[in-house]
Amino acid sequence: MAYNLLKGKRGIITGALDANSIAWKVAEKAHEEGATFVLTNAPIAMRMGEIKGLAEKTGSQIIPADATSVEELTTLFTQSQEVLGGKIDFVLHSIGMSVNIRKKIPYTDLNYDYYQKGIDVSALSLHKILAVAKKLDAINEWGSVVALTYMAAQRTYPFYTDMADIKAMLESIARSFGYHYGVEKKVRINTVSQSPTKTTAGTGIKGFGDFFDYANAIAPLGNATAEDCANYCVTLFSDLTRMVTMQNLFHDGGYSTTGVSDVVLGKLGLE
Ligand code: NAI
Repeated sequence: MAYNLLKGKRGIITGALDANSIAWKVAEKAHEEGATFVLTNAPIAMRMGEIKGLAEKTGSQIIPADATSVEELTTLFTQSQEVLGGKIDFVLHSIGMSVNIRKKIPYTDLNYDYYQKGIDVSALSLHKILAVAKKLDAINEWGSVVALTYMAAQRTYPFYTDMADIKAMLESIARSFGYHYGVEKKVRINTVSQSPTKTTAGTGIKGFGDFFDYANAIAPLGNATAEDCANYCVTLFSDLTRMVTMQNLFHDGGYSTTGVSDVVLGKLGLE
């Protein structure tokens, strides 16, 4: 059911790779809720991806941009305003990649070139997006920026290796930039800390399947799906949450505040 929550709003949605991507669901929901937006991804991802189908379905244009390049992000924000006919109201940062995770390198033995690449792609990209947008004055007052994160920023999950540190940085950038952009332009910046979700980035993590089931057994409501996450992002883009900024918002079915569940105790024979 649609509520027209984003009627008349213009957005930029990063990170839709395929139909499993969280960003893909956000695009579908934002379209249902009346938004117009530009889809963007790294040029290489778009050659492999199915983003054209999503663009057709949602009446969107695609503007490629590597989120590590200030130059390409500048083109993205400039062209998006031309295509959409005005300043931007919402931005989804849905970008994550760790070469150390891909290559299954343990945390205590990280490759530092890969580590820096991970920081650049997955955390600094948020800073760059915000800095470019601010310099161009491309986001409307009360506009909303949401970046996706994971709870390994607060608690240790050994398999998440360098991405744990990188997500902590991402969340910090959201707070720090949220202050400055809030004071100057009333732009809101939040991170959504999402349940494990079966996407290309998610399932690339060693032991993801077992961990997915574990989190599902702990969370009183079960794991939040990508579609649930999209609904939550839509509320954060809407005017109904206009005073929410600089927050890390857990969207995980109650996982983060549950110590242990009856289901898990039962499995251990301790119930
Ligand atoms: P995904 O693999 O579908 O999306 C990741 C996206 O990042 C891809 O579209 C990829 O092309 C893009 N990307 C990589 N390098 C880029 C670059 N240089 N420039 C622009 N885009 C680039 O996976 P998913 O799960 O939808 O990931 C989206 C976000 O959600 C990530 O930040 C991820 O860390 C976060 N997240 C995912 C969870 C999961 O379990 N899947 C849980 C919590 C957060």
